[in-house]
Amino acid sequence: MASQIQHPNLPLPDYFSRFANIYVRQTGHSTLNILANVITENVQTARIGAAALVARLPKEQLPKKLLVSDNVAMMVSAARESLTASPLPHVDCKELDSQDLSAVSDNYFTHSINNFSIFTFIRPVDAIRETYRTLRPGGLAIITCSRRFAPMYIVHAAQKKIRSDLPLMPSPGPEFYEEGGFTSDKITLVDKVMVIADHENIAGLTALMSGPLMAKAREGYTAEEEARWAESISQSVKEELEQFGGIRFEAYIILATK
Ligand SMILES: C[S@@+](CC[C@H](N)C(=O)[O-])C[C@H]1O[C@@H](n2cnc3c(N)ncnc32)[C@H](O)[C@@H]1O
Repeated sequence: MASQIQHPNLPLPDYFSRFANIYVRQTGHSTLNILANVITENVQTARIGAAALVARLPKEQLPKKLLVSDNVAMMVSAARESLTASPLPHVDCKELDSQDLSAVSDNYFTHSINNFSIFTFIRPVDAIRETYRTLRPGGLAIITCSRRFAPMYIVHAAQKKIRSDLPLMPSPGPEFYEEGGFTSDKITLVDKVMVIADHENIAGLTALMSGPLMAKAREGYTAEEEARWAESISQSVKEELEQFGGIRFEAYIILATK
C-alpha cells in the first residue's frame, strides 16, 4: 500500500478517502476543466487527468497506454469505476506514492500529468524528481497548481463573519519551486483563470464548503455558531459572485520537457 502521512494543512487525515466519490461535483469540475483546456496529447496521471484526455482528444489520438495512480485507495477505485466505459485502449489504475515510484523504471513515460495535487504532497520536490526520472528524454510533464483556490477564500470570508477572532483555516500552498531535475530553459509557465458561473457547479462547490470536509474551519465554534455556518457560506458565495460574476479559480500550469 502507498504511504499516507497526514499533510499539516489538509483538513482531515482521511480527507481524500472521504472526498473520492463526491470529488468531481464538489470541485465544480474546476480541476477537470482547467486541465482539459491545455491538453493536446498526453500519460501518467490520476483520474481527472484521464478524464480530461478523454474529454479533449479524439479517439485516435488517445494514449495507447495509461497509468492512473494516487496514493489513496478510494481515489484509485473511483478512477477505475469512472474509466471502465471510457474509450481509452489500455488503462492501469494503481495505488502508488508519486514521491517514490520505484516500481517504475527510468525513462518510461512519454507524458506525465500531475493535476492539482502537488501542493498536497508532503515531499513535493521528491515527486518532481520521480516525474523527471520516469519521463523519457524529450517527454513532457504537466503540473497544474492553484494560485487562487476559490473555496478557501470563500471559507475564510465565512469564518470572518462568525468568529473573526479565531485563526483562518489553513490551506496547503504551492511550495515546490525547486526544479527536481528539469532545467529552467525547458520549463514553460502558463496562467489560467476559470470563473465558474453555472448553477450546478456552484451548488457542488457550495456543498463542499458547507459540509463536513470543511469542519476544521469551524473548530472552536459553539452549537449556535455552527448553525450559522451554511448561511455564512451562502452569503460569502453571493459576495464572490457579485465580485467576479462566478466563483473564480486562478491556476498555473507548468509544462516541462526532459
Ligand atoms: C486535490 S486532489 C487532486 C485530484 C485529481 N488529480 C484532480 O485532478 O482533481 C489531490 C490528490 O493528490 C493525492 N495525493 C496526495 N499525496 C499523494 C502522493 N504522495 N502520491 C500520490 N497521490 C497523492 C490525493 O490522494 C488526492 O487524490
